[in-house]
Amino acid sequence: MKKLSARRRHPLAAVVVLLLALAATGGLYAVFAPADKAQADTTAQSLAIEEGKKLYAVGCASCHGTGGQGSTDGPPLVGVGAAAVDFQVGTGRMPLQQQSAQAPKKKVIYSQAEIDQLAAFVASLGAGPEIPTKQQYDPAGADAAKGGELFRTNCAQCHNFTGQGGALTHGKYAPSLEGVSPKHLYEAMQTGPQNMPSFPDTTMTEQNKKDIIAYVDAVNGDKTVSPGGLNLGGLGPVSEGLFAWIFGLGALIAVAVWVAARTAKAKKS
Ligand code: HEC
Ligand code: HEC
Repeated sequence: MKKLSARRRHPLAAVVVLLLALAATGGLYAVFAPADKAQADTTAQSLAIEEGKKLYAVGCASCHGTGGQGSTDGPPLVGVGAAAVDFQVGTGRMPLQQQSAQAPKKKVIYSQAEIDQLAAFVASLGAGPEIPTKQQYDPAGADAAKGGELFRTNCAQCHNFTGQGGALTHGKYAPSLEGVSPKHLYEAMQTGPQNMPSFPDTTMTEQNKKDIIAYVDAVNGDKTVSPGGLNLGGLGPVSEGLFAWIFGLGALIAVAVWVAARTAKAKKS
């Protein structure tokens, strides 16, 4: 006890205490300061934009212009948003190889990390729809029946009743939705690529989009189970009606002929 109080009175004691206190506050600040993480995020973000800018200059600028202002070979990208880039590049539509009625799906040539960088750069040119999170597009727990209803009123006129796809005018077509990932389904609705109308959250809520994704998943998922029995190609009322006419009516005629033959025989005897 004596020893301690002797040390306390030591001329350096105050300095040591002050230093310790400073170190403690500094340490606590480093642990709890939110600004640090935010700063790290913005550095990562600006790094991604920087990398994306380089990729863009090589692969996209020739058609879309160095600043995304567009040219005779491609539309402006200012304000199309990260979601449009993720969809167009992630499905292999972009970079376009040759001008045609419609940019076709091709082999994807960029890694997802590079696509994210391209998307970050394009998003930095002007605000637009962001890449949806898994929570937004994951169809788990969504209502597939409601989705079917929404699909028939909003999408079936182009993509057919179970998303088989169909031809449009001037060599354009609505592609089959089989095997399209939930994320790309969501982004297509959000951004409306080419001749497809867009369905922003104001006209179609996030939940509605999820329901539609659940429906498309259900009709395309397992080809061996079809909720209505034989799926007849899933082409909708025409093929189903034709099936009813040919086989249904055929069966009725066969029964009628059989009954007539029986009664004729019965009369004879
Ligand atoms: C050979 C020219 C060409 C190249 C190269 C090209 N694009 Fe495109 N891009 C187009 C054309 C043309 C369209 C419009 C397609 C249509 O509407 O038929 C388009 C459309 C887009 C769209 C959709 C815009 C919207 O309004 O939704 C995005 C996003 C896009 N391109 C991104 C890119 C990115 C990113 C690259 C580079 C990896 C790239 N493009 C490379 C020609 C090109
Ligand atoms: C007016 C016709 C039209 C309507 C309505 C329409 N689409 Fe499309 N859709 C298209 C066309 C055309 C394309 C091809 C665009 C392209 O290749 O860039 C397309 C592309 C898509 C793709 C991309 C498929 C792929 O292979 O990558 C998805 C997903 C999609 N549509 C979903 C939907 C959904 C879901 C709805 C309803 C909410 C819908 N579409 C409504 C015409 C339409």
